[in-house]
Order: sequence, then structure tokens, then C-alpha cells
Amino acid sequence: MDLKLALRYAALSAMPLLATFCAQAETVHISTPGTSLLLKADKDKELRFYHYGEKLSDTDIKSIMASKASWVNAYAPYGINTRRETAVAATHTDGNMTLDLVVDGVEHDGNTTTISLKDTHYPFFVKLNYRTYPDEDIIEMWSEISHGEKGTVTLSEYASGYIALPYGDVWSSNLYGEWAKEGWLEELPVPHGVKVVKNRDGLRPNHAAHGEVMFSLDGKPQENAGRVVGAALCYPGNFKLRTLNDNSNWIHFFAGINEEHAPYILEKGETFTTPALAVTYSGNGMGDVSRNFHRWGRNYKLAHGNKLRDVLLNSWEGVYFDIKEDEMKQMMQDIASLGGELFVMDDGWFGNKYPRNNNNLGLGDWVVDTSKLPNGIKGLTDAAKKAGVKFGIWIEPEMLDEKSELYEKHPDYIIKAQHRANMPGRGKAQIALDLANPKCQDIVFTIVDTLLTKYPDIAYIKWDANNAMPIHGSQVLPANKQSHNNIEYWRGLSKTLDRIREKHPDVVIQACSSGGGRVNYGFLPWFDEYWTSDNTDALQRVYIQWGTSYFFPAIGMGSHISAAPNHQTGRRTSLKYRTDVAMAGRLGMELQPKDMTDAEKEQTRRAIADYKVIRPVVQLGDLYRLQSPFDKKGAASLMYVTPDKKQAAFFWWKTESMAAEQLHKVPMNGLDPDKIYTVREINRIDNKPLQYEGQAFTGRALMANGLPMPAFHSVDKADATDFSSRVLILEAK
Ligand code: DGJ
Repeated sequence: MDLKLALRYAALSAMPLLATFCAQAETVHISTPGTSLLLKADKDKELRFYHYGEKLSDTDIKSIMASKASWVNAYAPYGINTRRETAVAATHTDGNMTLDLVVDGVEHDGNTTTISLKDTHYPFFVKLNYRTYPDEDIIEMWSEISHGEKGTVTLSEYASGYIALPYGDVWSSNLYGEWAKEGWLEELPVPHGVKVVKNRDGLRPNHAAHGEVMFSLDGKPQENAGRVVGAALCYPGNFKLRTLNDNSNWIHFFAGINEEHAPYILEKGETFTTPALAVTYSGNGMGDVSRNFHRWGRNYKLAHGNKLRDVLLNSWEGVYFDIKEDEMKQMMQDIASLGGELFVMDDGWFGNKYPRNNNNLGLGDWVVDTSKLPNGIKGLTDAAKKAGVKFGIWIEPEMLDEKSELYEKHPDYIIKAQHRANMPGRGKAQIALDLANPKCQDIVFTIVDTLLTKYPDIAYIKWDANNAMPIHGSQVLPANKQSHNNIEYWRGLSKTLDRIREKHPDVVIQACSSGGGRVNYGFLPWFDEYWTSDNTDALQRVYIQWGTSYFFPAIGMGSHISAAPNHQTGRRTSLKYRTDVAMAGRLGMELQPKDMTDAEKEQTRRAIADYKVIRPVVQLGDLYRLQSPFDKKGAASLMYVTPDKKQAAFFWWKTESMAAEQLHKVPMNGLDPDKIYTVREINRIDNKPLQYEGQAFTGRALMANGLPMPAFHSVDKADATDFSSRVLILEAK
């Protein structure tokens, strides 16, 4: 290695707060403030993986190399001596199915290190990229695959990245679920053999499974202790996570696009770029790993990730498809009078020949239904201005219904297999546009662009997608590339979203997909927030939001107060409880305010004012999970703390209601032990304040003991409810 370069790397590695690339001879040390990835890239040898996790010093690295520590192939190719799982597999033009990849070189460019691999015989190349972010404990890895063979090469495996974990009592924490039950947490020891978590929905990857995982290396997952590796595949389509426990020194983890039924036909000279796999590590438990993801998410992934979100009212559960101009105006005035800042008109406002009165027609025809909205969208944006709120609108631009003028004109624009009938989904009517088709990309762009250009007062878009890709097929891809249809869909949508964001950088966009179907870091970069779930039941939301918080920040977590009984579960919870749960994310409302009593409105007005006080703490602060609902201790609790530790918002919600229940006292976390915090309850409904209202405690005491939480609210008998909850604000001088 050139001496100047070596000195530069040495100097950089002495700056602890900067991410550094330390290429000592053939050793590649990719590091962040608190983590290290150690590889050895000897020319013409296989790329060796030694370590990912705790930050290594130069001495550590020297010892690892001197002690001939064990290593594994950092991007194992298929074909030669590969009894284990592999990262990449290809069939060469001549039919040979083996790869023999060796290191060709290492390059550093800004925050990215690229290691080039080449086949020992064929002109087949893989570039492995490792990227860091200033001040973040995140490393992103992705690969670029190309070849110079005479014909095409078929890729049958193409992982984004690989890491190996030391064998031990390793547990994985995954999210699973279903529509209305997203983000459910499952924590299990990593079994021997291969554990696969994958998705084949095509369009809504995150109802049933998630492309993110945490590995706890020191036994049962703990919130504040133990070594934990977190990984998030940044891809919105079909994904696959493979964890191989093969009776070796290692547990192997591969993540990437789900390659099943998706062999990729790679042309000569074409580069296949995989999505990125983002990894993070902490020696202090899962809480730290979540905070790493949240900070990176806010700083680099979500659109406008550090800008406070508005309090909104969404019309969906209030009126469903029954949109009427007068009622929209009334809802705007109501949310304004409650202190909200934005009104969002949901589904049901469009369609001419096929008015959208139900979920089985009209999608694709994005013209105002003037029988519902005689003064059109302009009438609504003007009314919103008058009411003093911003205006937002729902669209589902990737989809169309069989009963739509768009479909009648262009049946050739949909996802479809030849000789097969359409496979409509929602309402037995809905189909996805084939975004592999540039004409469909233009349609989606034009829907959004026209709305935003014609009505510059639209401040917010709820972008929905309520269909799977129920049939494999594209009407534009050639016969030999039908296997690319899911990949090409996402490429098409990404290009379209890039165009939209380039022209409309400021509009706030929510990623919704039948609730939380698209909560992933591959999709979120164009979006400000995500609709966490169509389930707005406050009790079940405690669980859904808990799991989602493992990887995704509260600033993006759409969380709405809805009516009681709840429309998904039929459960009745108090307005206080519904509000306290919704306040732990991006607060909104999703009901018809005119159905509320004056007392409920007054309570909500106070709650929204209170939320505005804690909004910067919730949305920009650090999350500390305190007591998990999944541990079934009768209550769940978490808190947010500002980075300067001067303010905190503490949440506590009952998760079951029993008389004489023995409740755990929940110690707080994340505070400055030496600061003195004054505690105040917000959104209070009790007749008398908590015994410690307005009192001051050291952070040390609060973190050692917590505060007692009365099991029930002290309210008049008529107002008594089962599930109690508390939100406290803590302020230090
Ligand atoms: C599904 C979404 O998740 C709901 O919030 C709502 O927007 C409906 N679609 C509208 O059809």
C-alpha cells in the first residue's frame, strides 16, 4: 500500500467520531464510531470475512491477523466445494454453473469501499460495496454483478450482503403478522439448519414478514444489555433473509432479493445492482440497535426526516367512501378547532364513468367526482385555507380497477400472464399497472404531477397500494425475461418516484399499503411517514407499534385516534387510552369529529395541545423501550428522551385489566442520572393529580426505581374505564 494513503488512513482512524476506511496492506477495516467490519482482500485469493460487531483497534486487528483467526468467504459463490449456503450463483453462457471468485482490487471513494472480485476463468465480475454514514453506526453493503461473456449469464442467486456472527447462544428477533396485525414480534433461538424469512406478495412485502432482523449474540434478547447485530434489507419487493447455523464457528446471514422464480438474465455489459443491506451493532442490547436505525432513518432515509410532522385528521374511518364536500369542510373546521394542522381526504373522491363509491371500481380514473365535490379539489384547498389547516389527498396511483376508463382504454397496461385470466385482488376488481412498462411509469408520474401542479395547495399525499402481485407476468418483458417482473416493477416505480421527488421535493408523502404493507427502508426514502397498520385499535396498536419501533422511527409512525367501538376489533377503549397510544407516534385522528361529544372534543383539544409540547421529544428524541407488551406484565411502557437529555416523554399503557393486579414498577431509562427532572402528567383525566405531580427527581432515582402507576384512573364512577394509561413529561433545568 502506498505510504501516503496508509498515513491518511492512520490519521482518519485516530478520529473516533468519523467513519474510517482502514486498508492496512490487504486488510480492509470498515468502521463507524462504534462498529467494525473486518475483511481481508488478498489479490487473487477469496475475500475473507473475519468480524462484524464491536469496534476494533489497530492492535485488535493485528492480533486477529497474527493469531490466524478463523474466517469465512465474505461472498461465497456457488459451484465449487459449496455444500453450504452461498451468496451468488450463475450459469455462464456455456452452461457452466460454477463460480470461482477471487479479489481483484480494493478502492475507496469517500464513504464507500469497493472490493472487486473476478472469476478465475470467466469474464464475470462482482463489486462488493460497503458504505458508511458520518457519525452513524450503520454500514450498508450491496453488490454489482456484471460479465463480458459472449451471450447472457443467468443469475440464480444474488445476495445484497453477507455477515457472519460468532456461534453461540444466538437469538433472532423478527417481525411477522398479517393485515391488521403488522409488526408482531417473534424472538427465538437461531435453529440449526437454515431459517428463511421471505416474502412473495410482490407489492406489499411487510404484512406477513419483514426484511429486518436483530440477532442477540448473548442469549435471550435484552433491551439494554448484550451484543446485538441489527440488519435491514433496503428493498420494497420480494425479499429473502437466510440464517444458516451449520455446526461451525459461525452463524451465516445472507439477505437480498428473493431469487425464487426470479432468475436474472444478465446481458453482456449490463450491471445488476442489488439493493443495500444495512447493518448495525451495539454491545448494549436491542434498544441501542433500534436507536441506531432510528437516527440513520431520520438523518438519511426518510424524506424530511428531521422536520416535525403535522397533527392530522384522515377521513377514512370517519366517512369511508362517502365523500361529500360539506362533510369534508366540516371535518377541516373540526380538526382546525381541535388544534390539528392538516386534513387528509382519503379514498372515494374520484371517478367519472365509474364513481368510486366502493372498493371495486374507479381506480385509475383520477378525475374528481363532481357529484360529491361540486367545487372540485380547488374548492377543498380553498376551504382548508379558510379553516386554517393544510390539505392532503389519498391516491393509489399504481393500481386500476377492471371497471375504470383507464382499463377500458389500456387492458395491455396491467400485470398479466399470457393465456391466463386477470387475477383481480381488492374488491375482486383491482389490478396493478405493469411498472416495467415505461408508459405505466408515465401514467403514475402524471397522476401525481398533475394533482400537485394543478393544485399547488396540496401539502400531503397518502400513497396507497392495496394489491398483491397475484399473477406472475408482464406484458412488456420479453419471453426470456418474464422472471424479471418483480424486479422490473420496483425499478420502474423507483424511477417514477425519483421523478416525482425531483419535481415535488417538499410535498409530504405517506407510504401506505393496506396499512403497514410497505414499511421498509427500500421504500421509505421517497416518503415522510408510513401508515403503520389499518388496525387502529389502541390496545393492539401498543403491540404493533412496539414491534415496528424495533427498526423504524416514531417520526414516521402514523398513529391515529379512532372511534370506539373500534372498527377492526370492536373493542371499546376510552378516548384517553386511544389518545395516549396515538401520542407515541405521529399523532393523528381518524374518525368523524362531529360524532364526538363536546366533552370529548375539549379533551382532545387539550391532548393535541399537550402533544405539541412533547412532539419534538417523540419525533426527534431517542426511544427507550421499558416494558414490552409481549412480556405480558399487564402494562407496557416506553419513553423518548431528547439527545441533550433535558426533556423526556414517558408512556405507560395497561395491556390487560384485572382487579388487584400486581403491576411492575417500571424503571425509566435514557435520562441523565445527575439531572433533576420535574414530572408532570399530560392528557390528564383524573380528578386529582398523581401524588408526584410537579415534583422533582434525579434521573438516577427515576432510572433506578421508576414511579408508581395507579392501576385505575381516579375519575367519577360514570367515567371509569378498564384500560388506564399515563403520559408524563419530564423536564430538567
Ligand atoms: C387501505 C388503507 O390502509 C386505508 O387507510 C385506506 O386508505 C383504504 N386503503 C382506502 O381504500
